[in-house]
Amino acid sequence: MKTLVIGANGQIGRQFCELASRGGVSLRAMIRHSDQQPWFHERGIDTVIGDLEGDFHQAFNGCDQVVFSAGSGPHTGPDKTLLIDLYGAIRAVDLAVERGLERFLMVSALRASDPMAAPVKLRPYMAAKFAADAYLRSSRIPHVILKPGKLTDAPASRLVSAAAHADGIEVSRGNVAYALLHLSQARMLKNREFDLLDGDSSIAMALL
Ligand SMILES: NC(=O)c1ccc[n+]([C@@H]2O[C@H](COP(=O)([O-])OP(=O)(O)OC[C@H]3O[C@@H](n4cnc5c(N)ncnc54)[C@H](OP(=O)(O)O)[C@@H]3O)[C@@H](O)[C@H]2O)c1
Repeated sequence: MKTLVIGANGQIGRQFCELASRGGVSLRAMIRHSDQQPWFHERGIDTVIGDLEGDFHQAFNGCDQVVFSAGSGPHTGPDKTLLIDLYGAIRAVDLAVERGLERFLMVSALRASDPMAAPVKLRPYMAAKFAADAYLRSSRIPHVILKPGKLTDAPASRLVSAAAHADGIEVSRGNVAYALLHLSQARMLKNREFDLLDGDSSIAMALL
């Protein structure tokens, strides 16, 4: 089982790749630039150069599932939100379906189901996540949608909650990486959606 990681060079992507490669998971990291390769090659991780705004179909060769953790980030405008977070995700789903991959694991966002409830500045991003999730749900590929809260760089506690609660809306990127590791190995989980916050349950118990 080979996992294509889209957004592998991101903060979650790298943490997931590191954990997964240490756990013996076979990976292909999709990255945008050749100067990003050494970090992956030092860890024995296969890489492929691909850009969600270009042609990236070759990245899928020989892969069985996708982890999509790419994002345009907070320093670009709504044009990139549309092209990367929405249309890039849609094109990745289409390629996964076309190639007959087994599963698609999407990193979405907490409350993406209600974009108008987000602060005004975040609404285009939430609308992109909402539409990408809807597209994935209606596609033919078995999937898991993970909806993390506001990301932090706190150390991974490996204790989470999969129910949005009043106490907080944060989750560490490390906990998201551990959650992705669990989901990438829990092959029986299909067509499921989980919120993800820091909490007090083990990842295996929270993401059943
Ligand atoms: N920020 C939050 O509070 C929050 C909350 C919930 C969910 N999320 C989601 O969490 C995910 C990742 O978070 P993060 O902190 O790891 O973000 P990050 O560090 O900004 O990583 C994003 C990754 O996406 C890649 N990327 C950007 N444009 C691309 C393109 N055109 N083609 C291919 N790859 C591209 C970036 O590549 P480079 O490394 O080359 O730049 C980077 O590796 C995103 O899906 C985000 O929407 C964020």
